[in-house]
Amino acid sequence: MDRLVIQGGSPLNGEVQISGAKNCVLPLMAATLIASGRHSFSNVPHLRDIRTMQSLLAHMGATSQHNHILQIDSSDIHTLEAPYDLVKTMRASVLVLGPMLARYRRARISLPGGCAIGARPINLHLKALEQMGVEIDLEHGYVVGRAKRLRGAVITFEQVTVTGTENIMMAACLADGVTVLKNSAREPEVVALADYLKRMGAHIEGAGTDEITVTGVHELTPSSCEVIPDRIEAGTYLVAAGITGGILKLKGCRPDYLQAIIQKLSEAGLSIESSGDSIEVRRKGKIRSVNIETHPFPGFPTDMQAQFMALMALGSGVSLIKESIFENRFMHVLELQRMGADIDLDGRTAIVRGVRKLSGAPVMATDLRASASLVLGALAAEGVSEITRIYHLDRGYEAIEKKLSAVGAKIERVRG
Ligand code: EPU
Repeated sequence: MDRLVIQGGSPLNGEVQISGAKNCVLPLMAATLIASGRHSFSNVPHLRDIRTMQSLLAHMGATSQHNHILQIDSSDIHTLEAPYDLVKTMRASVLVLGPMLARYRRARISLPGGCAIGARPINLHLKALEQMGVEIDLEHGYVVGRAKRLRGAVITFEQVTVTGTENIMMAACLADGVTVLKNSAREPEVVALADYLKRMGAHIEGAGTDEITVTGVHELTPSSCEVIPDRIEAGTYLVAAGITGGILKLKGCRPDYLQAIIQKLSEAGLSIESSGDSIEVRRKGKIRSVNIETHPFPGFPTDMQAQFMALMALGSGVSLIKESIFENRFMHVLELQRMGADIDLDGRTAIVRGVRKLSGAPVMATDLRASASLVLGALAAEGVSEITRIYHLDRGYEAIEKKLSAVGAKIERVRG
């Protein structure tokens, strides 16, 4: 298993090119199942999750080629199933459920099972599909969905769900009549998916608000689009500049997707200036301790909570970090403590008392964003850290060690 060896203490300086968003590409890939033929996406990062989704589509009969432009041919779908082996490594595999039901009226998909950050059930996806006339059965660990026709319905999500909104929006594209999704997710990735579905001929209004209306059509036709920049990767590099006391210019990002993150990092003492698609960040003096609470977009994203905690570990006071989305997304706390962080947990809140320095240590990555927080801690720490299980990191950060070493980090991937 590969590991990262990081010698901390070097301020990062220079330019970082931000990649396309993983959580935008994955639903776009699933959407290719709705329209038979050749789809093309540009600005697609090379990531393990994208390869997993390619394997899932290949299992179903769709071929793909990826060289930052991802081409998918969905003309020959023969297997309407998402098997356990693939779903268990990537929960976003559930995104094929809506498209399969939309086009083929049946689907068999493994239930995801446990997850390192919380229970993450898919009950809200299934309930909405039932409202649209899909008969759902659980058989041998699989969800089996069947419908004669999908019909439009008024669906109110009890809780905001990103992939739930995406799945049902896709299912509704070919349903009879009008589907209204209330309490929808407003994430930029939901809007990007709606834009692509519209390019394929779907009738969708309201994406980006909490009420999306989809009027079903007979058929969609394949198209092409550019993937939006990864706001979580950008946020992670903003913290990297702040925690090491360097100056970074991020290129190819969308500052408007990052408002909640920029707001909190500014309160923490970073100076952040945006111009067009670039953001320059530097630290002014000490890191100030500030409180955050995670929320659906446009609130502070749960996918930045762990990275923000690494920064707060070096804050000048006490920071309260409340995780409102996932009930168990604090696996990084124990590892940050191994680097000398002073953090206590009280239910869904972490109490982070800033320390003067972190010290390098062997630590273990437990999920994607937790891994990023350990890299950030290690970049700032005195001495050498060794981070194992970095396959988590490779799911969502393209060429992280290359990008970081190009701006002065002492970081090496040891293969094995
Ligand atoms: N939930 C339910 N039932 C459902 C669906 C969700 O109880 O049927 C709960 C979840 O357990 C969670 C909350 O609702 O407590 C929100 O979960 P959501 O469904 O929004 O999460 P998701 O769609 O599975 C996406 C991202 C995650 C990101 C979350 C929250 C993708 C592929 N994944 O997951 O990204 O953390 O939204 O913003 O878009 C990551 O990239 O590291 C990552 C985990």
